[in-house]
Amino acid sequence: MYSLFLVILCSGLCFASMDSDEYNLETLMDNVVVLRVPYVYGNMMEVRLTCGEAYQDQPVFWKKDGVQLSPDVQGNQITVLVKEMDGGNYTCHLSPNGEYLNHTVILVQLDPDNRTVILEEKSPEEGHIHCSAPNYKGSFHCTWTRTQHRSHAAVLLVKANRYLDEVPCVLDADGSGVHCHNANCPYKEEKHPISLTVYIHSYSRLEAYTKSFYLREIVRPAKLPNLNISNGQVFSWDYPESWEKPCTYFGLHFQVKVVHPGQSCNSEKLIMNEIVEETKWEVKVRSKKYVFCVRGQDKYTRGPWSHWSQCTVTKNDVIC
Ligand SMILES: *[C@@H]1O[C@H](CO)[C@@H](O)[C@H](O)[C@H]1NC(C)=O
Ligand SMILES: *[C@@H]1O[C@H](CO)[C@@H](O)[C@H](O)[C@H]1NC(C)=O
Ligand SMILES: *[C@@H]1O[C@H](CO)[C@@H](O)[C@H](O)[C@H]1NC(C)=O
Ligand SMILES: *[C@@H]1O[C@H](CO)[C@@H](O)[C@H](O)[C@H]1NC(C)=O
Repeated sequence: MYSLFLVILCSGLCFASMDSDEYNLETLMDNVVVLRVPYVYGNMMEVRLTCGEAYQDQPVFWKKDGVQLSPDVQGNQITVLVKEMDGGNYTCHLSPNGEYLNHTVILVQLDPDNRTVILEEKSPEEGHIHCSAPNYKGSFHCTWTRTQHRSHAAVLLVKANRYLDEVPCVLDADGSGVHCHNANCPYKEEKHPISLTVYIHSYSRLEAYTKSFYLREIVRPAKLPNLNISNGQVFSWDYPESWEKPCTYFGLHFQVKVVHPGQSCNSEKLIMNEIVEETKWEVKVRSKKYVFCVRGQDKYTRGPWSHWSQCTVTKNDVIC
């Protein structure tokens, strides 16, 4: 009696969960639908698949990830039950082993999508995606890192926009980044942020990662070139080739630092440290052995610093 009650209760619940499937099913792109579910365990959803109007009067057979469905279902329109994360690539064919006609990929995404497992967090401030641009012209590059156990995860789609304008992006060959270009006037004040969303899936699990930023927050000058020494201890360098011209409008300032031999430029144990506006600096230290370091930053926006350029000074030699 008790177990019968449970069966009835379950069928009622399961039916209820199937009932709501229309709300949670969305077409992400051609041939890809996404089921949004609040939790994974015990979740079941019915999804209706159509091979296509073109095949209305044909006998149609279906496979899931290349394997015939069991029990075997046929017809141009079928309904499949998706349990938990068990989506897949459903293909329809003219005969059980016949010609491929069409396919629908079913992916499952958690809603809210805040328990992600596919990408590593770079840092709490930065999130999972790191973006950088060498200047304000509008080209930028974003990167991400798959977690150790999801290294096979594949990017399905990258969408980027600034307010109402779509920003075109091209995925890097290794699938770990994108190059995007937002035709931009470098002199204009940015009113709206750029928003970037990466849709990535591991088997049937889909996760979407979004990052929103202004170019001014991600513009990092390239490493300062032509660092050299002359007239004893006067170091000089140039603005990066990729930096905006005119330099009077897009001014950089520079952090110059002298650290002990063998130390990295990030070392806290420093001999001297200054912010300067000129592209040269005379080192006045008594030591004959030290490391000279310099890096640049947009002096108006105070965005990210460039990577360090450095020279190692010894008694007889200077290596930049
Ligand atoms: C193939 O299936 C998709 C749905 O996944 C459908 O939108 C499309 O019209 C179908 N193609 C043809 C040729 O019927
Ligand atoms: C699904 O299967 C079709 C037909 O084999 C293939 O063209 C498509 O790339 C597959 N899609 C995915 C995401 O595996
Ligand atoms: C995810 O979001 C839900 C609802 O906003 C919240 O209750 C839950 O604590 C969040 N989980 C994590 C891991 O942030
Ligand atoms: C550095 O300066 C010296 C002397 O002024 C010059 O001979 C040399 O070519 C310069 N090196 C670079 C990399 O500019």
